[in-house]
Amino acid sequence: MVLIEASILSADPMRLGEQIKEAESSGVDGFQIDVMDGHFVPNITFGPDVVKAMRTVSHKMLDVHLMVTDPDRYLDAFAEAGADRMIVHVEARSNAHRVLRAIRKLGIEAGVSLNPGTPVCELEEILDIAQVIQVMTVHPGFGGQDFIYSQLDKIRRIKKMLEDRKLTIPIAVDGGIDTATTPDAVKSGAEILVSGSSIYRGNASIKENIAALRASIQGHTEES
Ligand code: DX5
Repeated sequence: MVLIEASILSADPMRLGEQIKEAESSGVDGFQIDVMDGHFVPNITFGPDVVKAMRTVSHKMLDVHLMVTDPDRYLDAFAEAGADRMIVHVEARSNAHRVLRAIRKLGIEAGVSLNPGTPVCELEEILDIAQVIQVMTVHPGFGGQDFIYSQLDKIRRIKKMLEDRKLTIPIAVDGGIDTATTPDAVKSGAEILVSGSSIYRGNASIKENIAALRASIQGHTEES
């Protein structure tokens, strides 16, 4: 089953709680919190207190995407805040294998993310520890960017690498995910769709945007 996570980066910060509840009642499978430090990416966003506040209104997956140079500095704080998953970048300064182990030691699901220019081979020595692989289909830092289609082949190559090693690590895709790009992403092997602007800034209500995204998955998965 393909899961949909709403990225709160594109939500209205003045109505965040309300929009989280609306997305949850509309059937979203979880939320991605895009944490940015203004150094790893040229934007500054949320901290542990936002996750803590979200935890009071949602029982869904809270997936913390750490777009920060030194993720190991923040693991305890986001774990205490109530994160269910933390995703770190292979491009960060911290040693990815060590950070992923530290996340799992906290009892939190550990994910790894690759920027568009990062080759698949960067995954080879961390597949024994990563529980989610997130392929960035935009350059991280901002919502509302155009999908980078060259990443579809990367998703397919990662899928093949996992199949060859008989691994069933889910592939997440993040950036420019909407009803137009979802079919190709799912056909390529994405099982978790992270979507921000198409849910929170789409043409219709949050409920209608999520329903449209869900409908765009149909017919493009292996089960269907
Ligand atoms: C980029 C962010 C975005 C966000 C989704 O740093 O990670 O990809 O989650 O944004 P949209 O869906 O608006 O591209």
